[in-house]
Amino acid sequence: MNFTPIHNPEDISTYSNFQEIKQKELDIEAEVDFDSKLIKGYVTGLYEILKPEVEYLILDSFGPEILSVEECINNVSQSKNPLKFEMYQNNSDKEAIGTPLIIKLPEKKEKEISIRIQYVAKNDKCLGIEFLEKEQTYSKKYPFMFTQGEPIYARSIFPCQDTPNVKVTCKVKTIAPDPITFLFSGIQKAHYLDSNNNKIIKEYVQNVPIPTYLIAFAAGYLEYGRLNDVNSTIPCGVWTEVGLNEKARFEFSETETYVTSAEKYFKFPYQWTSYDILILPPSFPYGGMENPNLTFVTPSLLAGDKSLANVIGHEICHSWTGNLVTNKNWKNFWINEGFTDFAQRKLTKMMFGEELAKLEAKEGEDSMYRDIEMLGKEHNFTSLSPNYDGINPDDGFTTIPYEKGFAFLSFLEELVGEELFQNIIASYIKKYKFKSVDYTAFKNEYEEMVKKNLNDGENILKKIDWDAWINTPGKPLKTVDFNTNLIKEAQDLAEKFLNGKNDELNDSKEKFNSWHTSQKLVFLKYLMKNSDRIDDTVYNNVRDRLALNKETYNSEIKSIWYQIALKTKHNDVYPEMKEFLKNIGRLKFIRPIYFDWITFNKADAKEFFEKNKYLYHNMAVRLIEGKING
Ligand code: BES
Ligand code: ZN
Repeated sequence: MNFTPIHNPEDISTYSNFQEIKQKELDIEAEVDFDSKLIKGYVTGLYEILKPEVEYLILDSFGPEILSVEECINNVSQSKNPLKFEMYQNNSDKEAIGTPLIIKLPEKKEKEISIRIQYVAKNDKCLGIEFLEKEQTYSKKYPFMFTQGEPIYARSIFPCQDTPNVKVTCKVKTIAPDPITFLFSGIQKAHYLDSNNNKIIKEYVQNVPIPTYLIAFAAGYLEYGRLNDVNSTIPCGVWTEVGLNEKARFEFSETETYVTSAEKYFKFPYQWTSYDILILPPSFPYGGMENPNLTFVTPSLLAGDKSLANVIGHEICHSWTGNLVTNKNWKNFWINEGFTDFAQRKLTKMMFGEELAKLEAKEGEDSMYRDIEMLGKEHNFTSLSPNYDGINPDDGFTTIPYEKGFAFLSFLEELVGEELFQNIIASYIKKYKFKSVDYTAFKNEYEEMVKKNLNDGENILKKIDWDAWINTPGKPLKTVDFNTNLIKEAQDLAEKFLNGKNDELNDSKEKFNSWHTSQKLVFLKYLMKNSDRIDDTVYNNVRDRLALNKETYNSEIKSIWYQIALKTKHNDVYPEMKEFLKNIGRLKFIRPIYFDWITFNKADAKEFFEKNKYLYHNMAVRLIEGKING
């Protein structure tokens, strides 16, 4: 076809021409085949024609095989008109954003067109689809499959306009062999067993328009448990592999309170009808993923003491910031994550008090400084407007959009007071729900509301240099003031260890154990920041007094401890650390451990990684391998 698609200037990570023809509804059929490790089926898109002269429909695609493309005339099941199609190969960025599918549109066009594509998405070529062997699951009896759409992997399941600028409603039919449960991120409408072939068929809808990155599937040997009363207005529940449900119900018992607290903060009702969590096998690469109606989480949240449930709070907040009001491209990712981080800490404040919220923020700030240092303070990924031209946006993933976004919002809040700021957020949500925005939407709302509500509004607005906040790399223009005793207490204890004040450390273990996880992390991150002051004596003292190699602390604490050990060149943690690295594939933990390990002892790191990488997600292997072989 004599046609060259280009990166869309509105979203550099898509080839789609959504300003000319726009995806409105997707009707998806997906059958999972565990033997061949693939998903296959049909995706029928309903497209609105915005420019009558448009000749081609360009869909993002990154891995799936296309068997046929047809125009559906009148009705899906009736007559079809085959359309010409071609995969476009651009060698310079196919690794970054894939090889789009170009479809020649018929000459004669109505206002809308329905196009059906038959696809096969295989595990080895499609980064967003992960198949796990039985052995990689909890039950060890059945295999598992899950997908990850954010940021640009929906296109690795089937071709679509894979940009957060476009939202769609979905109708979905999943097909899986009995007794596998095949879930979709929507609301289940029907399910039945096809007794001819022993397959379970489920029908879902997603009636709230969503960006494609929120399309998610998972299939495994699963069970469901309710997390709130059967009469509650928003049903909450948890899906787990069979055998894990009771533990999960305990861990996430606060779920409904998170949802109702978020409704209070945003002053806007939850729009998604129900809220379920799915606990994935250990190779799930994230802490959580806000798939609508079905948050995906890592099993490492099952700490036994609810100490990591704030991740659920975060994913619930995305039901407003991210899933209702969506970043319109990945350059504006902080519109999703910075706002969500900010709102989640408001929930922490509402549910557990301000001190804990400050601890969480401090801990986040520490991670941001680490990332800025790692990238270099001039790197444009350290700004709130990273440039992803020619780059897979996944490669720019850091805590910066979260924490620099949080710092910016905290600054904006401080200028106008907490109450007005909450009202601004509420009216921003109300105005931009179901839409995709860049930061100027919030800027406009903020300016309008401040002028309307404050006498000296104009003067206050003069104090904000939006352009500098958004575009300057490096640390935030103003940092948050974390004046709290708990942070000071954690840092004081760390100083005592660093200065070898043994006579003042006798009650250190009792103290440490009485702290909340966030306070422990502030303590450990302080040590990590000062690792150049940790000699063998200090190291042994911390390790032995706090029993860090012996006791079963939660995964957040363990991962920081291992990093401290590696940074200070101690290999006595190897046995526990290796066990940890075999049991969890969450990138937040394993990536920094491998990176520090490579610096300390590359040969050991490489040998271990090569032996165990089969346990990890495709994406994790890709990100760590780059460093190991580099
Ligand atoms: N949406 C993110 C996860 C994500 C980001 C997936 C970018 C793919 C690309 C999710 O909401 C998130 O932020 N998860 C965090 C936990 C949170 C408490 C900060 C995580 O996975 O660690
Ligand atoms: Zn998030």
